[in-house]
Amino acid sequence: MNDRFSLELRLPEDYFASTLRADVLAGLSAPPRTLPPKWFYDDRGSKLFEQITDLPEYYPTRAEQEILARRAPEIAAAGRAATLIELGSGSSRKTRLLLDALTAAGTLRRYTPLDVSVSALAEAGEAICRDYPELRVTATVTDFEHDLALTDEPGPRLFVFLGSTIGNLDQAQRALFFGMLRHALSADDVLLLGADLVKDPAVLVAAYDDSQGVTAAFDKNVLSVLNRELGADFDPDAFDHRAVWNADESRVEMHLVARSPQRVGIPAVGLSVDFAAGEALRTEISVKFRRESLTAELDAAGFTVRHWWTDPGARFALLMAVPSR
Ligand code: AVJ
Repeated sequence: MNDRFSLELRLPEDYFASTLRADVLAGLSAPPRTLPPKWFYDDRGSKLFEQITDLPEYYPTRAEQEILARRAPEIAAAGRAATLIELGSGSSRKTRLLLDALTAAGTLRRYTPLDVSVSALAEAGEAICRDYPELRVTATVTDFEHDLALTDEPGPRLFVFLGSTIGNLDQAQRALFFGMLRHALSADDVLLLGADLVKDPAVLVAAYDDSQGVTAAFDKNVLSVLNRELGADFDPDAFDHRAVWNADESRVEMHLVARSPQRVGIPAVGLSVDFAAGEALRTEISVKFRRESLTAELDAAGFTVRHWWTDPGARFALLMAVPSR
């Protein structure tokens, strides 16, 4: 480490243990059973997700990268950001396109990645510190859905939320999240948001049920997380991975479907869960967006969409929004 890098822990000591227990109690006590997708990402889950982004069927990462590569200079010129704040930075691979453009424009002084993963922040933060010698990197461990953990960063600030992770939130959660973001932004700050778009359901479903079974392994990994963290006795092989397009809700859903009737104990929360044969546990929603409705949602939260860029295939959108009032 060096004096341009800092890593701050903004989560309480027992955050993971207590939130996981609360989420499991809320989601598994009664059907329809659900788990929030954030529990996929232990070390193994994060590695599996990196593999997903390289799969031929999983187009969003490449589509977004195409847009970023093409628009980074415009983004840098429009925001003239002194600080880049990245929500859910993960490995920060795509961020380098923005860092390069903002460094070339000469405005950027600070990079602030926010993530729940200490290891992702430590690795990515250090690498970026090494490769951008003029930059101060203030990494912060936080759950950005509830706390943006902002401090004294120099403005203007460019907030970036890439990868269509916004699709993990349902409409009510998005309204709260956009409201919190709007509250955090000053008049000269800018929001850059990546959003996957509605398209042929066959293409969507294939992206979440690849032929090599990487997404299936990623999905089942959440059961191993519950086994390890809560002493549960899930047999991951007793469940099938399934991806479905829910047209009414405009989202892909991932389900783990019990292959046979089974009882699973989760001692840390005092639960014993009976699954019927064919019963589904929903592990993720991945909402797919349309320009009109997403623009309207942002508008309702006090943002004006200034730019809407897509890849040549119009599979994915990157939008730039600013505070309206
Ligand atoms: C990281 C939430 C954007 O929804 O496409 C990929 C996660 N799940 N394959 C997505 C994911 C299965 C991904 N996000």
